[in-house]
Amino acid sequence: MAERDPAAGTTAGPPEEDPRIRGERHPVARMIALGIVCSLVGIAIALAIDWFPESAAGSADQIDTVYDVLLICSVPIFVLVMTVAIYSVVRFRAKPGDMRDGAPIHGNTRLEVVWVTIPFLMVTALAIYGWIVLDDLEAKQPDTLIVNVTGQQFTWSFDYPSEKVKSNELVLPKDRPVEFRIHTKDVLHSFWVPEFRLKSDAVPGLTTKIRLTPDRIGRYQVVCAELCGIGHSTMRQNVRVVTRAGFDSWLQDQEEAAAPAPSGGGEEGGGGQAGGGADGAAVFEANGCASCHTFKPANATGTVGPDLDEIEPATADFIRQSIVDPNANVTKGFSPDIMPQDFGDKLSSDDLDALVEYLLKAQK
Ligand code: CUA
Repeated sequence: MAERDPAAGTTAGPPEEDPRIRGERHPVARMIALGIVCSLVGIAIALAIDWFPESAAGSADQIDTVYDVLLICSVPIFVLVMTVAIYSVVRFRAKPGDMRDGAPIHGNTRLEVVWVTIPFLMVTALAIYGWIVLDDLEAKQPDTLIVNVTGQQFTWSFDYPSEKVKSNELVLPKDRPVEFRIHTKDVLHSFWVPEFRLKSDAVPGLTTKIRLTPDRIGRYQVVCAELCGIGHSTMRQNVRVVTRAGFDSWLQDQEEAAAPAPSGGGEEGGGGQAGGGADGAAVFEANGCASCHTFKPANATGTVGPDLDEIEPATADFIRQSIVDPNANVTKGFSPDIMPQDFGDKLSSDDLDALVEYLLKAQK
């Protein structure tokens, strides 16, 4: 096929053609042409795919552009590497029965300088671009709503410190900047609302922050984006972006609900009545029990842990022990250590009493 090159067979044996060394006359030009076509096709496909759901925050457009730029830069590199690799595998394959060693190659300085310099320049440029975008997104804004986000196995809770409201649903006013201060009570989690794009890990001992401005009214979900245990996939909660007026009235509802209301509360064994103390239903909700357990009175449908509608034996002592020391009695079909071991520390004794009462009542 190719012209014979006596210099090719410099190892041992007679000087003969070896396509593994010389190749065809213009493989580089052909590979470049093929690579350009494949790159263009690859870029077109990559840009045509909707990688993210419709955006709901001001930051989303900039982040989507960053992704597009990354795709435009990385697709040709991928195509280049694959073109050279596949071409070489096909073109320079040893013929059946050819047991000779390959040619001794001691590198190619020019090639190495090129393939270190170009990626270095690209990565540096992309890092600077990313930093500029991040700096812009993280700029402080006036009239920012602070929301403390707390992750724990396997639920999120939200605390609006200035408004003195706690909630298990994330409710945000449209067009008002929000600063999320993200914490965790136990292991690593990652706070992510795909429609807002920005994502941040919840790291034990640290407070991480993200700032964004929701700009589309709607219902979304917080998802946990860090594998955090067996209930990781259930660690989802509702997000609602509402009008300013809607937000204010929601705040008011929350404040009223939190106030010691004289009204009877739950109809069928809802609240804890132990000396007017804590409300068992609220404790159940606030501690994320619903993420893992099915429990009809709370409309909970979790399946990570046992069904609480069928506690056996349904005694106060048994329920209390199962909360404080979950490994003491592991329900058949479940493994130990699924349930966090620290509810005994997290719950006040009033809350624990109320929760036991709440769960016990449902059995009767
Ligand atoms: Cu929390 Cu995954």
